[in-house]
Amino acid sequence: MAEKKSRRDFLGMAFGGFAAVGGIMSLGAMKASWDPLPSVQAAGFITVDLSPMKDGELQTIGWRGKPIFILKKTAEMKKNDNRDVVVGNEEYAVMIGLCTHLGCIPSWKPAKKIFHCACHGGDFDPSGTVLFGPPPRPLDIPPFSIDGTKLVLGEEGPEYKRLAAKAQG
Ligand code: FES
Repeated sequence: MAEKKSRRDFLGMAFGGFAAVGGIMSLGAMKASWDPLPSVQAAGFITVDLSPMKDGELQTIGWRGKPIFILKKTAEMKKNDNRDVVVGNEEYAVMIGLCTHLGCIPSWKPAKKIFHCACHGGDFDPSGTVLFGPPPRPLDIPPFSIDGTKLVLGEEGPEYKRLAAKAQG
């Protein structure tokens, strides 16, 4: 009887051990699937490869608790030398996706090619400039640098400094 009990205890402990290891492994797998591929996040920096993006495509990336809009501009979209990020021959708009009025998240309307803020009707063009409504200024540009075809969010590179200086000038 005592032997049966101890065997049951042993099997219980062994099963518990397997379950614990399995649980830890599946947590690891879940964590891997949560990572924002193809982005790599480390120490507040996020690296996003821009090369797979198609013309007119919008990506929204979470960075330091904020949505970041990355829009690959099309040839039809008006150029804005004070705001657009040039990588190779391509132009992108990179903006914090929070309305500069009261902080709602505007949504991209591909048919109209505007960012529309539903809270009070603010509209922004594809570069984030105010077209209509109460927002007092364009969408803010987050600090970034360019590394080949990759955008590194959180690092103040020369491209960001150039845009920031134009925004003040
Ligand atoms: S918060 Fe966007 S228009 Fe008011």
